[in-house]
Amino acid sequence: KRVAVLISGTGTNLQALIDDTREPKHGRHSEIVLVISNKSGVAGITRAEEAGIPVEVVSHQDFKSREEFDQELHRILSWWQIDLVVLAGFMRILSPWFVQQWRGKVLNIHPSLLPAFKGLDAQKQALGAGVRVSGATVHFVDPEVDSGSIIAQEPVRINPVEDSLDDVIERIKGVEHVIFPQALELVASGQVRFNDPASGDD
Ligand code: GRF
Repeated sequence: KRVAVLISGTGTNLQALIDDTREPKHGRHSEIVLVISNKSGVAGITRAEEAGIPVEVVSHQDFKSREEFDQELHRILSWWQIDLVVLAGFMRILSPWFVQQWRGKVLNIHPSLLPAFKGLDAQKQALGAGVRVSGATVHFVDPEVDSGSIIAQEPVRINPVEDSLDDVIERIKGVEHVIFPQALELVASGQVRFNDPASGDD
């Protein structure tokens, strides 16, 4: 499968995906052929370039509306004949129109055990709530934010007294970098399929 990774920042998850998809394992089902960033000058772009992966910067500020930005994304993804879209720290909410176009083909990673702590600053929310366990979730994207079907999850322990926010962020990233490539492979290989509630079949 031809994969595009969408980023807005540091790109440590992008790096984990690049490293994994390039490991010489048998029967690899996905290849990252494109990186799209909605921000210029971010570290993730450098990572892609160093790996020899083409990068397109699409600044949302150049578009009048979310829909027009999403139409440009759709145009680029179609031109590159992308099969799967991976959101790796992509800090834009995709419109229902885009989600419908790419239904079952968009994966996102979120730094909590969904459905707990949806939205921004999930690690901070977890620390604030005093939970002893949080984690990371890879899920299919649906029109509601952080609520599509879950593909993979992994817990991490939190010590609400001793852990700083950075400790929690880093610990969760550690598991993100493991489960995101695994989840991508599960979907790309067809072992996990999107069960579309709207389609009426399977
Ligand atoms: C990750 O924590 C991810 O869960 C969240 O944004 C962060 C991206 O980090 N959606 P990076 O750019 O992959 O380092």
